Amino acid sequence: MRVSRDGGDDDASEALRPLELDDRTSVLVLTGAGVSAESGIPTFRAAGGLWESHPVEQVASPEGFARDPTLVWRFYSERRRQALACAPNPGHHALRGLEARLGDRFLLVTQNVDDLHARAGSQRLVEIHGNLFQTRCSRCALPPFREEAVHLGAEPPPCPSCAAAGRGGLLRPHIVWFGEMLDPAHLQRIDRFLAAADRLVFVAAGTSGAVWPAAGLVDLARAQGASTWLVNAEAAENTARFERFVRGRSGLVLPVLLGGA
Ligand code: APR
Repeated sequence: MRVSRDGGDDDASEALRPLELDDRTSVLVLTGAGVSAESGIPTFRAAGGLWESHPVEQVASPEGFARDPTLVWRFYSERRRQALACAPNPGHHALRGLEARLGDRFLLVTQNVDDLHARAGSQRLVEIHGNLFQTRCSRCALPPFREEAVHLGAEPPPCPSCAAAGRGGLLRPHIVWFGEMLDPAHLQRIDRFLAAADRLVFVAAGTSGAVWPAAGLVDLARAQGASTWLVNAEAAENTARFERFVRGRSGLVLPVLLGGA
C-alpha cells in the first residue's frame, strides 16, 4: 500500500505506515459508502451503484416522497433488508479501535445510513445523513424512533400520532434527502470538536467527495492546521484538497493506517 502526496499519484509515493498519534493529537474521520462496500452494501455512484438503478429525485427527495411514498418506502425497505444481512468489516472495526484508544480526541462523521459503524461499536459517531433504521413522521413532531420493519405494502405507513389526531401524516425514513438541510446540532458538534483539537489529523475514507457539505470538511480541517488523508479505491472529486492519498480498499488500509487498533 502506497501513499502519494498532494493528491498526486506519482512515483514518489511512500510505503504506508501507521499514523503517529501523540497524546495531543485528535483525529476526525469522515466515511462514505466505500467503507461499507466490502460488507456487501452497494455504493451510490459506481457502475451498478444505487443511483444508477434508482433515480435520485424519485427515491431520495421530499418531492419524490410526496409524489410516490410507496415507491420510496420500497426503496428504503430493500436497503434495510440488505443492511441487516451485512456485517461490519475490518475498516469499521479499525475505526472502533481507534475510538477506544483516543476517547474524546476522536470523532467519526459518517455519510452512511447503513448502521454498520454503530453495529461495530462506534459511539463517538455523527450520522450526518441519518440512519436507515430510524423512522419519523413527515408531518408532525413525532420524535424519530428505531424501526427495522420493511414497508412493502401498497399503502405507505401512517403516522400513529397523526392518525390518532385525525391528521393524514405518513411515516418517512429519518434520512437527509437531497434538498434537505443537515441537522444543525450535528454541525455544531463537529465545529466544537474542531475548535477543541490541539493537533488534528483528518481522514476521509470511501467517499467520492461529490456531496456537500461533507466534501468541504477537509477544508475546515485544513483551516485548523490538520494533516489530511484520503483513503479511497480511486481518486475522488476533491483528492487535490488532501495532503496524502492512499489508493486502496478501506478494509485493508484503515487497519494499517490506524495502527491495528
Ligand atoms: N474502499 C475504499 N473506497 C472505496 C471502496 C473500498 N472498498 N469501494 C468503493 N470506494 C470508493 C469509490 O471509489 C467512490 O469514490 O468510495 C466512493 C463512494 O462514493 P459514492 O458512491 O459517491 O458515495 P459517497 O461519497 O458516500 O456519497 C455521498 O451521496 O448519494 C448521497 O447521501 C448519499 O451519503 C451519500 C452521499
